[in-house]
Amino acid sequence: MRIQTFEQYQEAYNQSVEDPEGFWAEIAQQFTWRKPWKKVLNWNFNEGVTKWFEGGELNITENALDRHLAERGEQSAIIWEPNDPDERSVEISYRVLHDRVCRFANVLKKHGVQKGDRVCIYLPMVPELAVAVLACARIGAIHSVVFGGFSAKSIADRINDAQCGMVITSDGAFRGPKVIPMKETVDDALEQCNSVKNVIVMARTRTPVSMLKGRDLWWEEEVKHVDSICPAEPMNAEDPLFILYTSGSTGKPKGVVHTCGGYMVYATYTFTNVFQYEPGEVHFCTADIGWITGHSYIVYGPLCSGATSLIFEGVPTFPDASRYWKIVEKHKVNILYTAPTAIRSLMGYGLHFVKDHDLSSLTKLGSVGEPINQEAWHWFKINIGRNICPLVDTWWQTETGGIMIAPLAGITPEKPSFATLPLPGVQPVLVDENGNVLEGNGVSGNLCIKFPWPGIIRTIYGDQLRNKQTYFSTYEGMYFTGDGCLRDEDGYYRITGRVDDVLNVSGHRIGTAEVENAINMHLGVVESAIVGYPHDIKGQGIYAFIITDQKPEDPEMFRKGIAATVSRIIGPIAKPDKIQFVSGLPKTRSGKIMRRILRKISEGQFDSLGDTSTLLDPAVVEEIKEGAL
Ligand code: PRX
Repeated sequence: MRIQTFEQYQEAYNQSVEDPEGFWAEIAQQFTWRKPWKKVLNWNFNEGVTKWFEGGELNITENALDRHLAERGEQSAIIWEPNDPDERSVEISYRVLHDRVCRFANVLKKHGVQKGDRVCIYLPMVPELAVAVLACARIGAIHSVVFGGFSAKSIADRINDAQCGMVITSDGAFRGPKVIPMKETVDDALEQCNSVKNVIVMARTRTPVSMLKGRDLWWEEEVKHVDSICPAEPMNAEDPLFILYTSGSTGKPKGVVHTCGGYMVYATYTFTNVFQYEPGEVHFCTADIGWITGHSYIVYGPLCSGATSLIFEGVPTFPDASRYWKIVEKHKVNILYTAPTAIRSLMGYGLHFVKDHDLSSLTKLGSVGEPINQEAWHWFKINIGRNICPLVDTWWQTETGGIMIAPLAGITPEKPSFATLPLPGVQPVLVDENGNVLEGNGVSGNLCIKFPWPGIIRTIYGDQLRNKQTYFSTYEGMYFTGDGCLRDEDGYYRITGRVDDVLNVSGHRIGTAEVENAINMHLGVVESAIVGYPHDIKGQGIYAFIITDQKPEDPEMFRKGIAATVSRIIGPIAKPDKIQFVSGLPKTRSGKIMRRILRKISEGQFDSLGDTSTLLDPAVVEEIKEGAL
């Protein structure tokens, strides 16, 4: 499965374009299937429909666990590093992980969870999170992991959208110096949910929590009374594996659905190739399992490849900014896959946190989630990678299931801040505003993909029409990513950021409409508009322009109140960084907010606002300029 030279990459790429079905069939054959597929690919981008390996049967946990037992049963599947460096870290072998997954799968079954049922998982970064995910997959239940930083309201929306019957959570979470309630947040969420029959609670912080008789169960108790044998449920390749919610430019978050067969093949193939994974290497992906990066490159990709995957519970700056480097040294980490925002933040703390740590185990570095600026790229490469580790800038999305455009570590010649070249099977095209395909090199446009790959989104849970409209209707016959992109003279790709109303704050994807709706719920707010502005560490910060019903008496207090409302409705990650009170917003005569103008103002570029004469009230722009923060 692993490409070893640049020539092999080129050959694989060409083959994947000339004969995609043959190419992916050959790769898929290297997995364990219960039944072979009847048809490799069936697709219609006009309808937003893609099916891979139809008729095939498998269970992804047999590929992630069972098939490794004979050869590497005693090898660590997971290394867990707790939040507190003085707490003991834990190593879980493939054999033990298999046992724990089977037991927990039996717990789920005992409480009536069946194939196709939806299970919401709201847990901190503990091994039980991986166990819960895999246990769902074992019995064919569809997991919906909700990032631990989301509010009760966000959890409730996600539970209700998928009609989850079960929630798995913990009493609390340790995050840096803080203890964060989890069960309590779930309890608040469940006041708005009717579908949930049981909540399984894992004890992490030993915080006293309410436990309702007949509904709530302790994880530790439950696993004592079940068998450790749990046959894997045979799944059709196109049966859903999981739902993961992500923000778009409009409306509520979308439940992106990935299915068993194609996702497994794609997550594993990309993990092996992009990171050039060698048996025995320790892979440390710093993302949270609540995001797609954690699903694909902490859990499924590494485990299906028989790798050792490190799960870190804490944050990079606790107890101090050397934490990542201490973890690398302690666990002899080989591959470090992180986000530009973390790199920029650690850069700011200075090199004295890096020196004195033995980073010689590192063989490969990776970056994901947002564009990486040149300075951060070089800092990471030189100071962490000793200028010898390959650094892969990986571009992809929740909807793509796995990495799409990236160098293969040590094989593809790198270029700082470029995701470089598409992986085999990925056919990118750049289009202009009118949908004309831009041929040749040295062009910039909107990034689309014109042919399906096995990890592509299958649907939006319960809303196939929205799937079709969001991704397949902007440009006919193509998947539209929402990103802008440059293809330079060498044919290398550089992602320039979202071209829609989606923000990327510290690598977190945030929809402007969602944040505006939350702000508008605050007492005294009449209307609001948010835009992203360049932020040294977060990549983008959130700048809110807000109209209030009366001039705030204590603007600072009002700002804090708005932030509290946003935290409550969405989560702290969506809090605005800057709030400017305005008396009006720049709107067209048809009432559309001209965000372009607000963006320029937030960037301080007052001279390049463009034509404002078509606005309903051009004077408002002057006022906003004067009050800009
Ligand atoms: O704008 C792109 C940016 O993150 C978006 C996808 O966000 P999400 O679905 O949350 O998944 C993030 C992790 C895969 C993309 O549309 N993005 C992701 N990786 C990169 C990136 N932008 C530039 N360079 C990247 N390497």
